[in-house]
Amino acid sequence: MACYIIEGGNRLSGEITVQGSKNGSLPLLSACVLVRGETALKNCPRLTDVDAAVNILTYLGCKAGRCGDSVVVDSTDACECDIPDSLMQEMRSSVVFLGALLGRFGRAELSSPGGCEIGLRPIDLHLEAMRALGTKITEEGGRLICSCPDGLKGARITLSFPSVGATENVLLAACTAKGETVLINAAREPEIKELADFLNACGAKIKGAGESIITVEGVKALCGAEHTVSRDRIAACTFMAAAAVTKGDVLLCGMTQDMLMPVLEPFEKTGCKLMQDTRGLRIKAPERLLSFSSVRTMPYPGFPTDSQADFGVMASVAHGTGVIIENIFENRFKYTAELTKMGADIRTEGRVAVIQGVKALHGAQVFSPDLRGGSALVVAGLCAKGVTRVNGIHYIDRGYENFDGQLAALGAKIIRGE
Ligand code: UD1
Repeated sequence: MACYIIEGGNRLSGEITVQGSKNGSLPLLSACVLVRGETALKNCPRLTDVDAAVNILTYLGCKAGRCGDSVVVDSTDACECDIPDSLMQEMRSSVVFLGALLGRFGRAELSSPGGCEIGLRPIDLHLEAMRALGTKITEEGGRLICSCPDGLKGARITLSFPSVGATENVLLAACTAKGETVLINAAREPEIKELADFLNACGAKIKGAGESIITVEGVKALCGAEHTVSRDRIAACTFMAAAAVTKGDVLLCGMTQDMLMPVLEPFEKTGCKLMQDTRGLRIKAPERLLSFSSVRTMPYPGFPTDSQADFGVMASVAHGTGVIIENIFENRFKYTAELTKMGADIRTEGRVAVIQGVKALHGAQVFSPDLRGGSALVVAGLCAKGVTRVNGIHYIDRGYENFDGQLAALGAKIIRGE
């Protein structure tokens, strides 16, 4: 099983270019089904989740493949509207093909998606919203058979929680529905605005993306467009955490403070200095981190659940006590059990983790429990005394492009092993 072997203790310094966004690129790849014609997504990251989306597109009859840093998709000949279980299981974002397939064919057949086991992750909000747009959904042998014989019709939809995936599905389905859709309590993540900007460039009429109320006026069809995927704000935060715990000084090329707004203050509380210049955002860490006191994960613009584990690692080596309250996913503290093997002092109860900083972590053999928990364990290994082996890194490959290469370029001692 692939692993990362890290010899801790090196101060990270230098500069890296932050990869294209995973959470940005996946809904854009689903949108390619809806768009008739050729789409080029530039700066599309090389990740196994992106490969999984490309495999789904190919199965559906699209021509999809990599061309340099772009993924190019021609959906002219798309003809299938079912996604086999094996492809659905590859990742959580496979569910965002639902809205795109309904919008293109008026029919979709799929099963519940796979992905990291960070909580129950139901899809009830997605299905409720698709029903509101006129979709009939039945379940046969674990497969969801979804059809809208009379075509999708715009509707007023209120999400009981601002789910990112459900918001994306509504945008995708509503673009070519008849009439107007008003989505209330929509997710406000930057990736929603990115999807809407792309769809608008393809001919959609979406207003208000990035705010809580989004309106979509249905159009007849969408055509292909070119789009550059934004930089990954979550991966950027992981590299910032890596700099923070190694007393580092790192420039994140292409990043701006506004892309990282929800994590800036907690980083500053730890004593890190953040400096913006024309090339990117620089982080300079203190000799010893201070506690950020507490963070609670919330929907955007709140503190992101995806960066929670990075802060768990920082608190583990900071002066003082850090408290993390996880409000989005109920099972996102699995990494803490692994961190304690490295000498961290963490108590968790339900959605709360209380972390008493220790002077230093020590190397250990740990297992990556999920994508962000896994990358955080690598960050821990970078500052631990001795050698850390992080197993199960197929999770990390879902979301980080050339993770070891990027860290090594900053001076980390890390190799990929078997
Ligand atoms: C997306 C992100 C993920 C991030 C998460 C929250 C992508 C590819 N993934 O995941 O990295 O951690 O947003 O910011 O963009 N829920 C329901 N019913 C539903 C849908 C969601 O109860 O039908 C619940 C989930 O179980 C969870 C919460 O809502 O507790 C948030 O989920 P959601 O915003 O949908 O996250 P994802 O789109 O899966």
